[in-house]
Amino acid sequence: MKISISLGGSLLTRQGNADAYRAYATVLRRLKEDGHQLVVVCGGGRLARDFISIGRKLDANHYLQDRLGILATHVNALLLIAALGEDADTRLHRRGGEIRKHLSDRILVGGGHLPGSSTDYRAVLFAEAMGADLIVNATDYGGVFDRDPSKHPDAKQFNSLSFGQLEEIIRKRFKQSPGDYGLFDLKAVRRARRCQIPLIIIDGTDPEEIVRAVEGSHSGTEIRG
Ligand code: UTP
Repeated sequence: MKISISLGGSLLTRQGNADAYRAYATVLRRLKEDGHQLVVVCGGGRLARDFISIGRKLDANHYLQDRLGILATHVNALLLIAALGEDADTRLHRRGGEIRKHLSDRILVGGGHLPGSSTDYRAVLFAEAMGADLIVNATDYGGVFDRDPSKHPDAKQFNSLSFGQLEEIIRKRFKQSPGDYGLFDLKAVRRARRCQIPLIIIDGTDPEEIVRAVEGSHSGTEIRG
């Protein structure tokens, strides 16, 4: 399969050391060895939020805050490239055209590009460019719930949704601002809907869940239609 993965930066930065980069690299390498073609876009995680918070204190406008976030995504992407070694293309990809040109049996790793969106949007653009069969969004908050699970312990997770339903949930419940593009950014949902590539949103805190998403045995939320 051709798969575009949006790897939440928080998954990479939460321990503040090399372990997480190594753990995700191990799983990605296994998917590659199983014959899948992979493009992985790294989020900025704690690095992005720290840079943006300092920027805010210095009165940086949204454009500048987004640019700080983008730099953080590049740091994470370069560290993942390091962890993947020979299995990764060493270029840091930002544009769909680059993906089309360099698609090979090596894993392509990318980061953010233009202010005003998140790496989820990049993952959708890359999915379109590579003709992906699947987009996987791995985050640290799991699938899509009917209410905020951090405030409502009885919140129920959806097993499946349409893109229209996901768009409505995001519009009602999530803000879209630098460092916080919520569950999945709105532009990304609309684009994924237009290109009709199925999206699976998973709790990626266990890297193995990415493999389960590809193999169809995950516990996340599947969006199509
Ligand atoms: P992300 O929001 O994609 O990373 O990028 P994240 O916070 O690590 O994602 P999750 O929540 O863990 O999944 C960090 C910030 O960089 C800017 C935005 O401000 C974004 O919130 N950014 C990123 C852009 O402006 N454009 C991009 O293409 C990517």
